Amino acid sequence: MSAPIRVLVTGAAGQIAYSLLYSIAKGDVFGKDQPLVLVLLDITPMMTVLEGVVMELEDCALPLLKEVIATDKEEVAFKDLDLAVLVGSMPRREGMERKDLLKANVKIFKSQGAALDKYSKKSVKVVVVGNPANTNCLTALKSAPSIPKDNFSCLTRLDHNRAKAQLALRLHVASDDVKNVIIWGNHSSTQYPDACHATVKVDGKKVGIYEAVKDDSWLKGDFIATVQQRGSAVIKARKLSSAMSAAKAICDHIRSIWFGTPEGEFVSMGVISDGNTYGVAEDLLYSFPVTIKNKTWKIVEGLNINDFSRGKMDLTAKELLDEKETAFEFLSCA
Ligand code: NAI
Repeated sequence: MSAPIRVLVTGAAGQIAYSLLYSIAKGDVFGKDQPLVLVLLDITPMMTVLEGVVMELEDCALPLLKEVIATDKEEVAFKDLDLAVLVGSMPRREGMERKDLLKANVKIFKSQGAALDKYSKKSVKVVVVGNPANTNCLTALKSAPSIPKDNFSCLTRLDHNRAKAQLALRLHVASDDVKNVIIWGNHSSTQYPDACHATVKVDGKKVGIYEAVKDDSWLKGDFIATVQQRGSAVIKARKLSSAMSAAKAICDHIRSIWFGTPEGEFVSMGVISDGNTYGVAEDLLYSFPVTIKNKTWKIVEGLNINDFSRGKMDLTAKELLDEKETAFEFLSCA
């Protein structure tokens, strides 16, 4: 067996972590031969709840889980990490302005970025989940100058999986028969779920989604709206936000980073734009289609972008630019 890897999950007393920790600890992500140390960070008032989570993890008697460290201290949490999954963030409270929410999160992710910079391995991979995920990821990245920018990504895999699932349901196929959907932009309702380059396997043959669905107005209308609004629909029904599906998507995202993407397939993740791809401004943390090899992502190039897609991609970029500008105002004084 190899040496244990050290994995931090923040927001560890929360509902996503409750599903996520079990999946990681039992080997769903890194495989059945990879032991690990789990580090759990939450805020001080949640330490009693966190103790309960630790007890449950112990009671699972999982052979791969070598140690569990629960803490409210960043200097403990961020030490020598191989992977940081940043789930905890300031939730939006009733009556809270968007700006105030951003400000509170800039404070958290600036501090955690600085802790990554100071205490973690330089090879640490950082996955940001807590909302607003793209801008929180950008804040952490900017606050950790000694860690390569490409080590940072934010989660849009849940949106990607939602898009895949909607297409599979419509076509009455297994979700895995649908490949290469794309989520462009922000993990918010301005995201653009794009099926133009997606394919589906029908009777063993690969067919373009537009050809298989034969309903362009659905693909350009209800399909997009359903994926964009899916998070709100889950909250309305469950009175709680997506947790099981979010945890599953985080596992998919990390597995793609660790083990790469299959030949000819791509996945969606929020990564830093260098300003040279698909007309997205430099330094935006934007969701793109990527392939991954040797733990390094690469944006899929050369996809044809029609006018409909262009409009939607620009709209979500504009929202991210506004978020970034507000966040950077706070970043300089946080
Ligand atoms: P939750 O409210 O159940 O748990 C959040 C936990 O984070 C709480 O235990 C809280 O005490 C903790 N926390 C707050 N500030 C912290 C800090 N500075 N350091 C460490 N921990 C801190 O929320 P849930 O459902 O687990 O969701 C977590 C986040 O993930 C939310 O921001 C949610 O909007 C986001 N989310 C993102 C998705 C994506 O696709 N990117 C999908 C679903 C949720």
